[in-house]
Amino acid sequence: MPADRRTELPSCYAMVHEGLEDLAGAEIAQTLGGKIKRAGNGIVVFRLDDIDRSILQLRTTEDVFLYAWGTDELSYRAKDLESIERWTDRVRWDSLLKIHHAVTPKPKGKTTYHFVTQMSGVHGYRRVDAKKAMMRGLIGKLPGSWRYAEENASVEIWLTINGAMAVCGMRLSDKTMRHRSYKHEHLPASIRPTIAAVMVRLAELKPDQTVLDPMCGAGTLLAEAHLSTRGKKTTAGTDWPMRFLGGDLDPSHLRAAQANLRRFGITDLRTWDARELPLEDASMDRIVCNPPFGKQLETPEAIGPLYKQSVREMDRVLHPGGKAVLIVADAAALRSAIERVGWKEQRHVQLRMLGQRAFIGVYRKPSAGA
Ligand SMILES: C[S@@+](CC[C@H](N)C(=O)[O-])C[C@H]1O[C@@H](n2cnc3c(N)ncnc32)[C@H](O)[C@@H]1O
Repeated sequence: MPADRRTELPSCYAMVHEGLEDLAGAEIAQTLGGKIKRAGNGIVVFRLDDIDRSILQLRTTEDVFLYAWGTDELSYRAKDLESIERWTDRVRWDSLLKIHHAVTPKPKGKTTYHFVTQMSGVHGYRRVDAKKAMMRGLIGKLPGSWRYAEENASVEIWLTINGAMAVCGMRLSDKTMRHRSYKHEHLPASIRPTIAAVMVRLAELKPDQTVLDPMCGAGTLLAEAHLSTRGKKTTAGTDWPMRFLGGDLDPSHLRAAQANLRRFGITDLRTWDARELPLEDASMDRIVCNPPFGKQLETPEAIGPLYKQSVREMDRVLHPGGKAVLIVADAAALRSAIERVGWKEQRHVQLRMLGQRAFIGVYRKPSAGA
């Protein structure tokens, strides 16, 4: 692309779970060739050489946007409202709309639009005041024939305020980016698909591997593992041969996994107790798992013994040199279970998901003789 066109292109930004900014940035850089400008507060700002539908293929991001303006220097005082109006007014909204239409084709019928304002932190104004300030800045910027719609609008303009940070932009993704289209069956304890995608990236799957989720719930981790390898070719030009299997203690959870995973051809799903797996020693190359968090158990103090017994069993079935990626709320309980089996922690990530702290640990089982 000629340099002059590239400089005209706006930046983009992605919303991610707090703590996962660097990992999402790595996906953006690797799969889209994006240059990361800023990562923090659950926002990753980046530039692309071209903005097209490939941006919608990101798997670790909750939403992606065209960047209109942003700041790290809100004053928390009412004078921010004048700034929000002024910054919004200065944006070349017509250029953003052109790119938006190219990425997200205009639906038939009347075009509709919607404004979203999110605000966290204690500010000297209300969220609705910030929204009104943005709307004043937008006066005359959108075609007069367009109609405001509460739901399913074709164009959404978002303002996100988090402490002193604010970012405003036009949403390119729709709800299928964060919720996916395969998730027909949901469980209250299901992991967010974007977090599952991060865990799968951390597991670094290779061709011809067997991937296990011993407490698979509705099967999100296995779905993301499958999707991360789909379309990948071996040096001989064939699809990666992979095997995915999972199980759960609760037959109704297993039925949800079966319903979600059938379309991917993942059928090796069984009702089992992860503390006693009907699997051979050293038969798995990768384990991805989201065991229950303490608050999901009738007796939260049972979490320690459950983690110890299930990690011991994971160790038995994991091939020496194999990797396990686990997400828990209670990092100390997990680490105490891991210490007993002697896995090496390669990396850990702390994140917030829906207001709750969580911990992802990445472990390698030492190779035989190591
Ligand atoms: C947090 S949920 C997993 C959610 C899953 N990742 C998803 O996306 O739906 C934990 C799962 O562990 C299962 N579980 C709890 N104890 C188990 C055990 N001893 N053996 C196998 N599964 C167990 C629960 O039934 C539940 O489905």
